[in-house]
Amino acid sequence: MKLPDEPKTSSLLRTIKWIRDPVGYMEACQKKYGDIFTLQFSSSQESVVMVSHPQAIKKILTSDRVSAPGYTNKILRPLLGNNSLFLLDEESHQRQRKLLMPPFHGERMFQYGQLIDDITKKVTSKWVTNKPFPIRETMKEITMSVILQAVFGLYEGEIFQQIKKLISERLEMTSTPWGATLILIPSLQKDWGTWSPWGKIAHKVRQIDELLYAEISDRRSKLDPSRTDILSLLLLARDDEGRGLTDVELRDELMTLLVAGHETTATALAWAFYWIHKLPKVGKKLLNELDSLEDNPDPMAIFRLPYLTAVCNETLRIYPVAMTTLPRVVNSTIEIMGYQLEPGTEVIGSIYLTHQREDLYPEPKQFKPERFLHGQFSPYEYLPFGGGSRRCLGMALAQFEMKLVLATILSRTQLALADSRSIKPIRRGILLAPAGGVKMIFQGQRQCQDLPVESVAS
Ligand code: HEM
Repeated sequence: MKLPDEPKTSSLLRTIKWIRDPVGYMEACQKKYGDIFTLQFSSSQESVVMVSHPQAIKKILTSDRVSAPGYTNKILRPLLGNNSLFLLDEESHQRQRKLLMPPFHGERMFQYGQLIDDITKKVTSKWVTNKPFPIRETMKEITMSVILQAVFGLYEGEIFQQIKKLISERLEMTSTPWGATLILIPSLQKDWGTWSPWGKIAHKVRQIDELLYAEISDRRSKLDPSRTDILSLLLLARDDEGRGLTDVELRDELMTLLVAGHETTATALAWAFYWIHKLPKVGKKLLNELDSLEDNPDPMAIFRLPYLTAVCNETLRIYPVAMTTLPRVVNSTIEIMGYQLEPGTEVIGSIYLTHQREDLYPEPKQFKPERFLHGQFSPYEYLPFGGGSRRCLGMALAQFEMKLVLATILSRTQLALADSRSIKPIRRGILLAPAGGVKMIFQGQRQCQDLPVESVAS
């Protein structure tokens, strides 16, 4: 079988480039080889075919000749465990998705509106005037509190604070290029005690596990069917034979939601604050729209605002925080962009490259929310949350949360970027994040409705 072209450099050099500058690397490959190319990293024996043409994206996400097995997400195993949704296959994956989906959709999800608003007001009330701070950190505090409440029904208290702190510390450990190298290259994952790099990480995970298992055991002992948080739901769930989930299965699913559900949304929010303040026209238009709402608006009214929706969509288009889909695997020979790919071939969709296509998004490097007011894009042209059987479980919650947090903060506070330089996208773990976390300055509460969004602090 002839695979699509691949860069001629050594696999080690490719891995370094992929870790240090994923955007630059994908763009360079696309320029040289087009909409389909092969990558092989020193971390794995298998080659991965990367595609960015909507027709190819559609095939990999929807064809029954391509599947989405859990083993391709093995880099997540050391943190999330074997029973994580990411690692499950076929039927068990579908069954678990069905179980976890309701709290992230419809009625149940919209009930989090008040909570998101309260948490946002509480966290931002601690802002100190005229002192630069990275807004991504504040956003992480908000999104972590929301997911802890949704997942455990925990708000404040000792366990809440401890889990929050330990998960943050653990994710921080793999957000640097060296940390990302450790997660991408399994042969480096040797636990030689807490003084060794991987040993430190493994120790942190054990500390988190202790808390999670203690909470699971405590909640098992006083099961309350009236509670609506996800842990209660999972504790009550039974399969066809009447079996419930084991503690290890519960731990893996809780960890999955905590990890997947907070840094992603926080990073997207940091990018949104950057663009809104970088481009005063965008900020002004957005404030006009927010000011048109009545006082204490209904979360649903905020959710439906067209320009706010367009700003969030464009934020996730220009720098999608998840750069690629999860890997897919060909299970029966399939033609993609002129290549016959044989069973076993791994294929991945580049969300970043698809979102940068000039034929879909003219002037792709420009932030233009209007594209989403005037145009419609298919799920294979615009896919910040992936698609098909592994489409992001938290998509609706993330979109809802982004809009409520932005609306609450922008309509009540006066913020500015700490400096006017353009911010570059960099890798933070497996996410595409703004370098420096977007330093902003809080200039005070917004006093009257006609005050515009400040762009850069004077
Ligand atoms: C802006 C925020 C977010 C972005 C951009 C994002 C993006 C993604 C993407 C691209 C995938 C892979 C989809 C595929 O390969 O087809 C994914 C999977 C997933 N996401 Fe998100 N996500 C976000 C927020 C969340 C939140 C809030 C949760 C928490 C509930 C979450 C939970 C998950 C889970 C559990 C999966 C795995 C699904 C499966 O394997 O079936 N995500 N996400």
